[in-house]
Amino acid sequence: MNKPGNPQREGEVITILLVDDIPETRENIKKLLAFEQDFKVVGSVGTGRDGVNMAKELRPNIVIMDINMPDMDGIQATSLITEAVPTAAVIMMSVQNDSDYLRRAMLAGARNFLTKPISPDELYNTIRMVHAQHQLVAQRYIDAPAIDELRSAAPKFDSENRAGHVIVVYSPQGGVGCTTIATNLASALMREGIRVLLVDADLQFGDVGVLLNIQSQSTMVDLADKIDDLDTELFDSIIFTHDSGLKVLMGPSRPEYAEVMQSNPKAVAQIIEKIQGNYDYIVVDTSHHLDETVLSLFDIASKIVMVAMPTLACVKNVRFVLDLFDQMGYPPDKTTLILNRVLDDRNKTRFLIQNEKIERFLRRPIEIQVPSDDLTVLAAMSKGVPIVAQRDRSRSPIRELVGLAELLHKRLMGSEEAATDAQSDRSKMQQRKTGLGLRLGKA
Ligand SMILES: Nc1ncnc2c1ncn2[C@@H]1O[C@H](COP(=O)(O)OP(=O)(O)O)[C@@H](O)[C@H]1O
Ligand SMILES: [Mg+2]
Repeated sequence: MNKPGNPQREGEVITILLVDDIPETRENIKKLLAFEQDFKVVGSVGTGRDGVNMAKELRPNIVIMDINMPDMDGIQATSLITEAVPTAAVIMMSVQNDSDYLRRAMLAGARNFLTKPISPDELYNTIRMVHAQHQLVAQRYIDAPAIDELRSAAPKFDSENRAGHVIVVYSPQGGVGCTTIATNLASALMREGIRVLLVDADLQFGDVGVLLNIQSQSTMVDLADKIDDLDTELFDSIIFTHDSGLKVLMGPSRPEYAEVMQSNPKAVAQIIEKIQGNYDYIVVDTSHHLDETVLSLFDIASKIVMVAMPTLACVKNVRFVLDLFDQMGYPPDKTTLILNRVLDDRNKTRFLIQNEKIERFLRRPIEIQVPSDDLTVLAAMSKGVPIVAQRDRSRSPIRELVGLAELLHKRLMGSEEAATDAQSDRSKMQQRKTGLGLRLGKA
């Protein structure tokens, strides 16, 4: 993360709009800001409504907003500004003890807050810090391709020179179907000429083995102290091949063995990076704990499949993680949002949140909805086969699970031709992927 002292590019000026109903307050802040060369106050208005209008017109980098104002208050104005001018970051101002107001302001989209009376240093540091943090978010609205190109294209160790796309399946909530999705996604991605590996990175309570009825003595724990010398031969001696042909790297067979892996939180990511070139797709199932293991997997992921359920707690937690992704500078198209265990209209209750509301709150489209179907899911599990291993792929929820695989395959490989390119030139692939991701982004 950027330090408050030196966040922006040299010579860059941060444009600021002031919104406060007390003229003296605006004047004071303006005077303080005039001392620093990198700030420019482009507007100063006295009502929330004018604040919204001026923000739309001037498109400042920063809006400094009073919370209590007659006519439209700062919270409502913030909500309207963050929606209409997402490139602007709002900093809220209030007197002390307004904690409930501030909480609402943050929910409305404010990025930070200042407590009156405001000290010059606090003012300067907060503006610079918020500007730096918001830049990556703002950038994607200004020139999305540029930010996408920042995506790391570091050359990877590879023996077979395969595409090596890492797809991490994650949900901040347990029980929403991560393992079900990961297993079926891996299975549905399998096709002639494409090599797929499924990794169980839920180190303590991984249950890929249960879903696929795998009893394997060899797990990633056997690799933990050999990562530096890991080669294809050693790796191949550890992985399990399911009846369906799917290759699986199993997680620790008992919760207490998880500790061996966790002593190096990046171990799973490092193992994957080593063998990445041997596979076209590596699908990773994760636990819902947001720990170093999961974070290091997010970092190496080409795509993150975020699994949600339409409940308040789940959607709230998903938003938290998506905000974190924004702060980490992940391009928005790195994440694919899917809803699982969706009830049909007959069984929908008023306790579930509507899709439109979820999309607005998460600022992301829901790309796939997988219906709830206990019978099909249980039947597959009791046989130890993936749900998608059925012949009739037109039936729900198989159709949707296969649909997710098709969607990601298209985005990551584009076409067979792009896939061939990937094998001959990884960096070229990276560029194509970027372009494709953008074009298909709203599909
Ligand atoms: N679409 C679905 N319809 C019905 N049951 C489902 C569906 N997806 C998952 N389940 C069930 O929900 C439970 C939790 O799924 P699982 O994949 O283990 O979630 P997680 O890995 O996130 O904890 C399992 O019993 C699974 O069979
Ligand atoms: Mg699981």
